[in-house]
Amino acid sequence: MFETQYNEEMEAEVKRLEAEKAAQGKRTLKITVIIGSPRGMKGNTGRLLKEVMAGVEEGAEIELFDLSAIGVTPCSGCEQCHKTGICNIKDDYQIIKESLLNSDAFILASPNYIFSVPAQLKALFDRSGNIVHCLKLEGKYAAVVETSGGGEDDEVIRYMVRFINSTGAQSVGSIASQGGAENAFPKQELLFENARKLGKELCRCVREKERFPDQAGYRGAFKARMKRLVEYRKDDWTEEYKYLQEHN
Ligand SMILES: Cc1cc2nc3c(=O)[nH]c(=O)nc-3n(C[C@H](O)[C@H](O)[C@H](O)COP(=O)(O)O)c2cc1C
Repeated sequence: MFETQYNEEMEAEVKRLEAEKAAQGKRTLKITVIIGSPRGMKGNTGRLLKEVMAGVEEGAEIELFDLSAIGVTPCSGCEQCHKTGICNIKDDYQIIKESLLNSDAFILASPNYIFSVPAQLKALFDRSGNIVHCLKLEGKYAAVVETSGGGEDDEVIRYMVRFINSTGAQSVGSIASQGGAENAFPKQELLFENARKLGKELCRCVREKERFPDQAGYRGAFKARMKRLVEYRKDDWTEEYKYLQEHN
């Protein structure tokens, strides 16, 4: 009698766990996409980004922010975001921040502008001080898209990956290319195939909660540094201190 009841309970528990797993598998993924090219989606970066987006799993909810079309004003350095969690400047940044906070994953796309990212994207990075201090994107995944004129891609990719890791997120990889002539990339077919693979990989990493041990060292050390910094300013940076206390 006892054994039968025990088996039934076990079976019910297994079924419940299986249903939970299936529901998790079907959950719609939310992906925030940010393009920093002043040429928007019409430029080289946009064309490559479109292929990455095409690789994203069917049904995913994509929110695209084209920084050439919407305004993100440069940071004024007022430190208000550290105190309250809300930026003093009233523009589209808050919408992008909300989208990132609610996402499972994000994609950063940028051309190489003098060995770095264009001012439009740098402004967004600078405005993300509150996200960075508190590593508010921990648990999320990101991919990088980059194009250049002369094939100098690595420096810009490294910079964007560092930003990603400094938000607490993990980078699943990147795709990059020289612009090429007449709206065609060199080895375009292979490039686009790899771009679509990157989009797919981003979703797989979210679904399977992939881990990237090679990024753990930087992320851990950076988090420890930010915690020390916020602790030091705790009387002033109250929102950040509270957030880090609650999300340890
Ligand atoms: C202001 C400016 C600065 C650039 N700086 C670099 C650079 O330092 N290195 C490089 O390889 N390409 C550089 N480029 C070329 C762009 O990175 C390249 O054309 C890119 O594919 C443009 O992407 P887009 O069409 O999405 O804007 C620069 C282009 C511009 C307009």
